[in-house]
Amino acid sequence: MTSLTIRRPDDWHLHLRDGAMLEGVIADTSRHFARAIIMPNLVPPVVTVADAEAYRERILAALPKGDRFQPLMTLYLTEHTDPDDVEKGKTSGLITAVKLYPAGATTNSHGGVRDLDKAMPVLERMAKIGLPLCVHGEVTTPEVDIFDREAIFIDTVLDPLRRRLPELKVTMEHVTTSDGIDYIRGAKSNLAGSITTHHLIINRNAILVGGIKPHYYCLPVAKRESHRLALRAAATSGDSRFFLGTDSAPHVDPLKECGCGCAGIYTSINTMSCLAHVFEEDGALDTLEAFASLNGPAWYGMAPNEDTITLVKRETPVAYPAKIETGAGPVTVFDPMFPLHWAVDNDGF
Ligand code: DOR
Ligand code: ZN
Repeated sequence: MTSLTIRRPDDWHLHLRDGAMLEGVIADTSRHFARAIIMPNLVPPVVTVADAEAYRERILAALPKGDRFQPLMTLYLTEHTDPDDVEKGKTSGLITAVKLYPAGATTNSHGGVRDLDKAMPVLERMAKIGLPLCVHGEVTTPEVDIFDREAIFIDTVLDPLRRRLPELKVTMEHVTTSDGIDYIRGAKSNLAGSITTHHLIINRNAILVGGIKPHYYCLPVAKRESHRLALRAAATSGDSRFFLGTDSAPHVDPLKECGCGCAGIYTSINTMSCLAHVFEEDGALDTLEAFASLNGPAWYGMAPNEDTITLVKRETPVAYPAKIETGAGPVTVFDPMFPLHWAVDNDGF
């Protein structure tokens, strides 16, 4: 196959940042994607409906003229989040989900949740009104090995929460382990998972073999090869509980290439090319549309996009830049370590 037309995809987990960085990255998403769930971990975070409204306006103002991209806003859950404010956001249509960051789990998560009991009134209200909870599924207990944090989170936090509130709709975001995949597969209802582009491509060797490679460092950190293969099998299976959330997370190079580098991989620009490569390699191009364009909207109760994009396979590799320049500084683009031959038709690369 050398050409594939699919419904326009959406990105169900995206960091757009703010200010000059937002202006520098948004076109890479709006060029290919119709909608994206926008992460609220700004500094300071997006905690109220008023914050989300103002952030949405800034995103729309930064969009290239003519792009019809729709940002789907989230709230950053804290121990003080007001259930009435959350309900107001859902009723007005502004808020698509609430995000749980265990405090200290990742970038700008220090204002997140330490004691989930304190957030129960909000979670109960969300269960009642049908507002999904997006979860960064890692424990932060210092004794727990970083490669085990997802599996332990499932056992000690997620499963107890879902037993306590079975009506709560939960998205396990950026699943990185076979434990996560198995847990989602085993759930009867109200659980789905997003998978990133990079976790389908790299395992932990990419970060650590032959020198430390900060541009492959993200959280949850990439795991061993058997986990990557489990993610590939889930993503390409067509199972409606798995869908794309790129977790594209730009940081300027000086903040990645230093003694304590930030977590995050920038994939918005070449995600669709990477996915076409991965799905073709697994003989699953026929399920790419389900993963990137159908399963996500179905889970979030939205219609799939009406328009389409066409991916074309070229003889010569697609010339994505190694870095993009933003007003905030340079951002290195994800390098899948193989040439990309699939391009989104007419996207200029
Ligand atoms: O790698 C990551 N980067 N993981 C996250 O959970 C947050 C993100 C960011 O905001 O940079
Ligand atoms: Zn993220």
